[in-house]
Amino acid sequence: MPLTITPFSGALGAEATGIDLAGPVSREDVAAMEAALDEHLVLVVRDQSYSPPQYLAAVRHFGDTMPQHLTEMLMDDHPEIAVLDSSKTRVGPDGIFAPVGAREWHTDHTNHERPPKYTALYAVKLPASGGDTGFANMRRAYEALPAAEQADLAAHTVVTKIEDHNYVSDEAREKYGKPRTHPLVRTHPSTGRKALYFHPGKLRNLEGMDPESSTAFIDDLVARTITPDVTYRHKWRPGDMVIWDNRAVLHIAHRDYDPAEGRIMHRVLIQGEVPF
Ligand SMILES: [Fe+2]
Repeated sequence: MPLTITPFSGALGAEATGIDLAGPVSREDVAAMEAALDEHLVLVVRDQSYSPPQYLAAVRHFGDTMPQHLTEMLMDDHPEIAVLDSSKTRVGPDGIFAPVGAREWHTDHTNHERPPKYTALYAVKLPASGGDTGFANMRRAYEALPAAEQADLAAHTVVTKIEDHNYVSDEAREKYGKPRTHPLVRTHPSTGRKALYFHPGKLRNLEGMDPESSTAFIDDLVARTITPDVTYRHKWRPGDMVIWDNRAVLHIAHRDYDPAEGRIMHRVLIQGEVPF
């Protein structure tokens, strides 16, 4: 069966069927999936079955892998893969179950000078129900704003930090915790289109603003721009491998299941460029 790509909705997201990324893959099929990612930003590749080396080979069709700073969660034999296991998630000081890195709409690893262009998640174990992942098209969110506000936002620069999680080693904190500066409005290198780009949890401040005002600014931006019109909620099926474009998409993990069930995802990050 040939590769078929079917868009999910007008907002974002598409499904790829008829392809086994664990086997030989043609250059044309990779190019078609990259083009689908440029247009739809989230690509759900159905019916995959990977060993860890096969998963890495599958994802490397789309670029080089990059290190992750969740040092406590990396696979021993394949540290490019982070094992996100909800049963190992810690309950926060507020008593609320907080999945790793997913407490709010965010894009991954903004604390890196060259953050990941893509994130891949492969469903290894799913809860009986729930555990969906939400995606927001921040290109569309940006384009829906008035031109004057677009210009105002484009003048802002984000200064990053690393969160105070106990699953990040001191060494990783030293290596990846230095403040980075990224534009709040990011231009996509392939399409030239602009998108809102930030991670509230890794926001130290906006340049020229104090941390408190910066957080309030970003919270307001999230509340106003992430509307149902720009989102897609992915209900995972066994065999799903989802890859998304961090440069134009924010994502969130829904908490509507019992973490003790052990929802397990394998995550790989693909190296991106310095944001501009
Ligand atoms: Fe994430």
